[in-house]
Amino acid sequence: MDCNEFRGRGKDMIEYICGYVENIETRRVTPNIEPGYLRKLLPKEAPDTPEDWESIMADVESKIMPGVTHWQHPRFHAYFPSGNSFPSLLGDMLSDAIGCIGFSWAASPACTELETIVLDWLGKAIGLPDQFLAFKEGSRGGGVIQTSASECVLVSMLAARAQALKRLKQQHPFVEEGLLLSKLMAYCSKEAHSCVEKAAMICFVKLRILEPDEKSCLRGKTLLMAMEEDETMGLIPFFVSTTLGTTSCCSFDNLPEIGPICQKFTSVWLHVDGAYAGNAFICPELKYLLNGIEYADSFNTNPNKWLLTNFDCSTMWVRDRIRLTSALVVDPLYLQHGYSDATIDYRHWGVPLSRRFRSLKLWFVLRSYGISGLQKYIRHHIKLAKMFEGLVLKDKRFEICNEVKMGLVCFRLKGSDKINEKLLSNINASGKIHMVPANVNDKYVIRFCVVAQNATEADIDYAWDIIKDFAEELLDTQAEKETELQDEVFELLERKKKETLAQKRSFFVRMVSDPKIYNPSIAKALPSTRRHLTQPAESPENPITVQPPAHMSVSRRQPPSFKRTASWISWPLAFLFQGISEEGAAGTIRFRHLDTKVRLKAAGKSPNNGSPSPDGENSRSPKRSPVSSRRGSPTNNELQVNK
Ligand SMILES: Cc1ncc(COP(=O)(O)O)c(C=O)c1O
Repeated sequence: MDCNEFRGRGKDMIEYICGYVENIETRRVTPNIEPGYLRKLLPKEAPDTPEDWESIMADVESKIMPGVTHWQHPRFHAYFPSGNSFPSLLGDMLSDAIGCIGFSWAASPACTELETIVLDWLGKAIGLPDQFLAFKEGSRGGGVIQTSASECVLVSMLAARAQALKRLKQQHPFVEEGLLLSKLMAYCSKEAHSCVEKAAMICFVKLRILEPDEKSCLRGKTLLMAMEEDETMGLIPFFVSTTLGTTSCCSFDNLPEIGPICQKFTSVWLHVDGAYAGNAFICPELKYLLNGIEYADSFNTNPNKWLLTNFDCSTMWVRDRIRLTSALVVDPLYLQHGYSDATIDYRHWGVPLSRRFRSLKLWFVLRSYGISGLQKYIRHHIKLAKMFEGLVLKDKRFEICNEVKMGLVCFRLKGSDKINEKLLSNINASGKIHMVPANVNDKYVIRFCVVAQNATEADIDYAWDIIKDFAEELLDTQAEKETELQDEVFELLERKKKETLAQKRSFFVRMVSDPKIYNPSIAKALPSTRRHLTQPAESPENPITVQPPAHMSVSRRQPPSFKRTASWISWPLAFLFQGISEEGAAGTIRFRHLDTKVRLKAAGKSPNNGSPSPDGENSRSPKRSPVSSRRGSPTNNELQVNK
């Protein structure tokens, strides 16, 4: 394709995109296809000879689009928004055309400089303290664009780990790094995004997942107790990840409480993940939610979620860029340049070397909308979420399950998790609107997020009508089923009554011939096994009791004082650290975010070659500390590092 053809095709593509955006409502929000659908439609190999553009575009519409979930659809209310706007699309288009790889200032100076400037603009608009801004007098901080929030959390944890290990190595020069590493403990709330757990797995550090309060908010006291407890066990707190706007229910950890706690401990890195809600802090009336940020070492938010900027654009700021980059610097000769002392080289700020010119689209967005335009957009989404909340609250069959501060509403039918699961699966199967579930306060809830850029009140009304219709249908069939069930129970009771009468009659007959049945003292005098053997099917002293299933009887045996512990270790991680203690022993691991259990067989012993297999039973209690339960390994005191 030459420039001339590109000009034409480019115009056609813009036309296609505009048509897609304008008519998106005519499409089903989620695809109605089966896994593997595309493989059947496309050739097994890449074409040997060039194909004409028309046939490629024809396939886009006939083969690709049927398998697309339309995240920009006004009926899409799942997850968080996927940022999108025309200025951003154009910015990305230009960035793709320039095609530079801005890993260092010298590799493309404008790419680096625009990123630093735009991050200062946005950081200031959000209300970050001056220490996070690159161009503030005396500041050691600055911002960077990463691919995703997950990467921001990982990079922060890597920096915190490097800082902690460096300090420990200075204190204990003759202790192996591996041993020091095994002492490091990171913390987050149960409501934190799973990317914190993943980061801990990659960093090979322990992660303690803490119980939030009833508002899904991590409190300072909980953190303090956990950190102190760990310190007494010889562990070393080094990283705390907090969330402003959690994924499940958009709750906010209590930063003003958590910040001072982190400062009580030597060099604990405090990260604040505001992937979605962080964008909203550009509105002055929402800045109070950022209180406590002055204690943070790093902060991230994704304009590619809620600031009209296309993926990928995850912005991250650090208070001290040297502490970040010293964890990530490698400096081969071919990447060095003469200005490295005076410039930023973003290759030291993240995992990949190559990086796109992502600041262009953010710059386009900030300039095209202005801060006031972006504030209007955020406020509009919040207003619509509040409107939806109002509709739910008016209907007594439903309840709201989160504090609606942003564009996310968590709600459920008053009733069982099952019925809510059924409601959501019926709605999603219809393809009329799309939502996803979450677990809030141990209840299955449905998340309704205002997502579409130009969402309207009519869209909210439409969604609510759909939800109500499906709920009514479900409750009706439920009521019918309940009537049927009541009839069945009635019949069963009648049958039971008749049987009991018959048994009573036979009991009276046997009483005459067998004193054990009616004289309890004789029955008690018998050995227990015999007593069991001779126990009648039913007697006044021994009425028939239904035995609970094995897993229930275990919990019944727990003392009445049994209470859930407040926190637990990330289990995939604990497994890595703990290993399989006995040759051939199998372990069951609970994967928190998948809400599933996997039974792992020891290497060589597994009938399925050691690959995990789902297993709902026999789960090991997630409350058992991998530190104290480690078998055959040195005790904590033996491993203790003198501090
Ligand atoms: C609070 C929070 N943190 C992190 C993430 C992960 O984001 P990313 O997909 O950019 O890694 C999400 C995703 O929704 C999130 O809500």
